[in-house]
Order: sequence, then structure tokens, then C-alpha cells
Amino acid sequence: MAPSSSSTSNSNLSLLLLFLLFFAAPWAKALNFTRQDFPREFVFGAGTSAYQYEGATDEDGRSPSIWDTFTHAGKMPDKSTGDTAAGGYHKYKEDVKLISDTGLEAYHFSISWSRLLPRGRGPVNPKGLEYYNSLIDELVKQGIEIHVTLYHLDFPQILEDEYHGWLSPRVIEDFTAYADVCFREFGDRVKHWTTMDEPNVLAIAAYDSGAFPPCRCSPPFGINCTAGDSTVEPYVVAHNSILAHASVVKLYREKYQATQKGFVGMNVYSFWTYPISLSSADIAATQRALDFMIGWILDPLVYGDYPEIMKKKAGSRIPSFTKEQSELIRGGTDFIGINHYTSVYINDASNGEKTDLRDYNADMSAVFRTSRNDTPSGQFVPTSIPVDPQGLQYMLEYLRDTYPGIPVYIQENGKGQFGKKDSLNDTDRVEYLSRYMGSALAALRNGANVKGYFVWSFLDEFELLAGYHSPFGLYHVDFEDPNLPRQPKLSAQWYSKFLRSEIGVNIINMISADEHEHADI
Ligand SMILES: *[C@@H]1O[C@H](CO)[C@@H](O)[C@H](O)[C@H]1NC(C)=O
Ligand SMILES: *[C@@H]1O[C@H](CO)[C@@H](O)[C@H](O)[C@H]1NC(C)=O
Ligand SMILES: *[C@@H]1O[C@H](CO)[C@@H](O)[C@H](O)[C@H]1NC(C)=O
Repeated sequence: MAPSSSSTSNSNLSLLLLFLLFFAAPWAKALNFTRQDFPREFVFGAGTSAYQYEGATDEDGRSPSIWDTFTHAGKMPDKSTGDTAAGGYHKYKEDVKLISDTGLEAYHFSISWSRLLPRGRGPVNPKGLEYYNSLIDELVKQGIEIHVTLYHLDFPQILEDEYHGWLSPRVIEDFTAYADVCFREFGDRVKHWTTMDEPNVLAIAAYDSGAFPPCRCSPPFGINCTAGDSTVEPYVVAHNSILAHASVVKLYREKYQATQKGFVGMNVYSFWTYPISLSSADIAATQRALDFMIGWILDPLVYGDYPEIMKKKAGSRIPSFTKEQSELIRGGTDFIGINHYTSVYINDASNGEKTDLRDYNADMSAVFRTSRNDTPSGQFVPTSIPVDPQGLQYMLEYLRDTYPGIPVYIQENGKGQFGKKDSLNDTDRVEYLSRYMGSALAALRNGANVKGYFVWSFLDEFELLAGYHSPFGLYHVDFEDPNLPRQPKLSAQWYSKFLRSEIGVNIINMISADEHEHADI
């Protein structure tokens, strides 16, 4: 199939959406399931990321990443930093024991590039190597399947200073060399590699709105940005991300896959999208939003090129792939990882309606809303979001139809408590996770090739932009106590019993889209 598959599925999608929007309620039904209803080889786990989990940012030879620079400049709304985070660098042995005691089948973490290679390239930091080797060994000892992300938004500051990071094609060589070290050192035990976390969010949040480091956007520059060009840079960054991913995949396939027998995939952040009305303009905008969010990264890696609509809308501002590059990137992902929390309503903005996001949304000509009668949210990731478990099912079925056969891991799904106090008795999180897991099961039964589900996050940690005020963890971390003690929430106990098949899940009404909560990124 060619990238134009999106136009074939377009009419199907529209029909489906028609149904969903206006006839979904009568389908509301009970769904009861246990661990046994998922295939044995399906894995359930939980995740963390290096900057959000490890702390110890200036210990044992680690050099700063762009997130250290950002937080130390006081750019977080609450002025927090990841200097201690969840203290994982010193507490990982205790945590692996908790992971095992909880009965998790898999654990997903990311490697800090600047801890392993403090100069960004060249000599390996022995202490960094020792930390990851030891963490991996502990997981192996407990029989936990290991999933590793190479890059979770924490670019080495030293390379940012040298050539502006992802804006430069020089990143491709350095990222490939960093991946080479990881495969060589850890690939005997790690079989599931994700190159990048959310390259679509990276491109938009860091180079269009400028909210994420390195904080670039177009004039007028504000407190967040001092340089940038939102009309061009998001596309350049995504382009380099895709080429860097493809280069890493090529390396793995040529040098490691035969002996290590692992897999290399790519992650994207995903919303499910509903048209805000049944007008053909809103329905077309909804497909456009999917193409701009998902197709932007995955169409090149599956079919070798960007979606036609993106090339048309962005014109010469979106780089093109040469014939050789197109050959290189095509078929270049062993699996797809999605981070998924919520759904949005899409409003056509072809007539130039103002979007608070800068040029990327103007090209998409779509506005994201968090409810049907909401004003435009103006945020790529809205701060107030619908809990819409069904949306995950639709997303997985969309991936099934758009990228047939490719395995999918739900790499992040979970519930934060933005601005609210989290409780150890987190019944709302149990409800959220149950419903989203049920939705994954429904998609699986409809033929989606879903292979795993990871709760975000294993424990409370430093949340990007929300700091310590939006805990997502199954385990509570007391950040006031210097020992950072962990305590299970109800959700940890519930997940544990579910995974041990001691309890099932009974969901009376699968469809609910009205509660508003916060999305992690
Ligand atoms: C700057 O970034 C912060 C979060 O990092 C965000 O809350 C704020 O809205 C941004 N300001 C502007 C003017 O974009
Ligand atoms: C937990 O909360 C639920 C409802 O939110 C309540 O019914 C239950 O009694 C609480 N359990 C404990 C141990 O406080
Ligand atoms: C699911 O569980 C609920 C509550 O235990 C029960 O009332 C319902 O009959 C069950 N439905 C099915 C289809 O088994």
C-alpha cells in the first residue's frame, strides 16, 4: 500500500466517525475480562523515563541535557527541576524489587544519552555504563521483559550548543553512534528498542510553540523563545528524527539483529480525533489532523514518504526525501509505540481561524477542542482533557487499517492528578486504567496487532512541565522526604491482582467521554 492509503481509508473513517458520534451510546455495554483474555505473549508493564526518574543529574560524570538547562533557568511553571526526581539512580534495586513484587511482566525505561556519553559522542562514561548494566541485570534476574527508549526528549546540551541538536543533520551520525554503544553494551539482554519518544511532540512543543527545550519559535519572541522559525523548524526536526531513526534501524539490522534477535521501533504521541460536527469540512479536518500527527512520522517509516496533504500544505517548507532516503526509511520500523491519554474534537480552520499554536496548526488548518462546545484549546496537548477509553480502541483500529500488520505497543497510558492531591486510594486511576485496558482488548479482538500495554508511570516522578504536581504513579513517592520512600497506591495493588489473575475487571458502561482530566506528555 502507498501513503495515499489514507485517502482510501478516509471514506471508511468518515463513516465510522458518523456512527460513533451520533449512534455510539446504544452500544454502551458491559465488558468483563481477566488477564487470561489477553494472549499469553501480550505484555503488561509500566514505564519511566531517565530525566523524570533518575535524579543524580550531576553525579558520576553525567553532563547536562537540555532539560537540565531548561529547569535550571526557572522555566518550569513551579520552578522545579529534575535534580532529584524519583531518585532512581540510587534506588533502582529497590524499584526493580517492587516491579517484580507487583507482578509486572515488562518494564520500560529510557537511557540518558548524556549519562552514557557525557561529551555526546566518543568515550563512554564507565559509571553510566555500570548503572545501566546493573539496572538491566536486576531486571533480567527478576524475569522482567525489558523495553528501552534511547531518546526521551533529553538531548545532550553539549551537542545542542555545538550544532543545534535535532535541527542539524549532524544529529544523525551522533545518534547512530550513541545507539551503537547501547546495542553493543546492552543488546545481549535488551530485545525491545524504541529509538525516540514522541518525535511529533518534540517538533511541535520545542520548535513551534517553544514550550519545551530548546524553546524555539517564531517572532514575536516571548519569555520562552529567543530564536526560531515555527514555519520551518518543526518540519526540519521531524525530518532529521525520521532519518536518524532509519539510520539506527539500518545499523541494528546489519550489525546486531542476526545475533541479538531484537526489534527496533518508533513511538508517536497520539490523540483520537472526532470531528466537532458532521460538516464535510470538519470531517476532512479530522483526517488531516491524524495525518499531521501520526502520518507525519509513521507514513515515511512505513511507506517512504510524508502524507500528500502535508506536502501540499507545507509546500517547500517540509523537506523532501531523496529516492535513496525514501528507500532507506521505508519499512523501517519493527513496531509502533504509541503514547495515548485522550481524545480531542477537531474543528476545521481552513478559513484562517486563529489558532494559538503557531504555524504548524495553521498548516494543519485544524483546531483542537476538548469538548464539542469548547472554545479552541490552542494547545497541542490540552491541559483539560476528556477521559475517553473508546478513543484508544479507535486509534488502535486506525493503526491496524493504516499500517497493516505492524505490531503496536501502548507505551504510555495513565492518569495524572494535575493540580489535585493524589490519594493512595486512587479509585479514579483504577477506573481509568481498567477502561483503557478494556478498550485495548476490544481492539485486539477486532484484529489490531497490539502486543503490550504500559502504565505511565510506574511511580510518581518529575513530570515534564508539571513538575512534582501531577503524579501518575502506581507507587506514591514522598518528595518531601529526602529518602523518597515509595508506597503502593490502590492502583498498584489492583494491577498486581489483575496480573496474577486474582481479580477480573467488570466495566458496566464502556463509553464515557465527559470527565475532564489532564494529559501527560
Ligand atoms: C511558556 O512556557 C510555559 C511552560 O513551559 C507555558 O506555560 C507558557 O504558556 C509559555 N508562554 C508563552 C508565552 O508561550
Ligand atoms: C476509597 O475510596 C472509595 C470511593 O472513592 C471509598 O468507597 C472507599 O471506602 C475508600 N477506601 C478507603 C480504604 O478509604
Ligand atoms: C459483568 O459484570 C457485571 C458486574 O459483576 C455483571 O452484572 C454483568 O452481568 C457481567 N456481564 C457479563 C457480560 O458477563
